[in-house]
Amino acid sequence: MHESPSSAPARALKPETLARAPGIVAQYPQKRSATMPLLHLVQEDRGHITKEDMHWVAELVGVTPMQVLEVVTFYPMFRQHPIGRRHVRVCRTLSCALRGSYALMENLEKSLNCPRGETSPDGDFTLEFVECIADCGCGPVVHVDASMHENVRPEDADKFAAQLKATLKDPAYGQHPPVPGTPEWNG
Ligand code: FES
Repeated sequence: MHESPSSAPARALKPETLARAPGIVAQYPQKRSATMPLLHLVQEDRGHITKEDMHWVAELVGVTPMQVLEVVTFYPMFRQHPIGRRHVRVCRTLSCALRGSYALMENLEKSLNCPRGETSPDGDFTLEFVECIADCGCGPVVHVDASMHENVRPEDADKFAAQLKATLKDPAYGQHPPVPGTPEWNG
């Protein structure tokens, strides 16, 4: 199983995470069906999933840790390593690509000082390409934590990066996914 690159032990999960887990398991006729919801719960808490977390989930749902690892490694949304304080995902699928998502990515790499696929040296941003996130009419689309940003043009990368840097001072940013159609939806 893959170890975290950090030498420091991972912190314990929050008490509210531990308290919610049994209720999630109880929702399913077969306990193992709760594997993915529990992994999402852990990732919401910690930002990534550790080996110890996988053991904890395995015990809760009655499977082996290896079976939980198989789920974690199959789905790209699950992470085994820490990411930056803001997770910036640029859609590169056809509609967004035709509207400039590749140029936008190049500009964001400079504006955020962060190569694609990596985390910035200051730990503030992780920048990635992703496939279609189902908002194809409004590309280029950028998903930042739980917020969707539409029509982010390549020439606006500096301005957009400045907005994202400002959100680092907002502890509530991204904690409550905005509702489509509201001003918050568009960042
Ligand atoms: S192609 Fe970008 S959201 Fe669908």
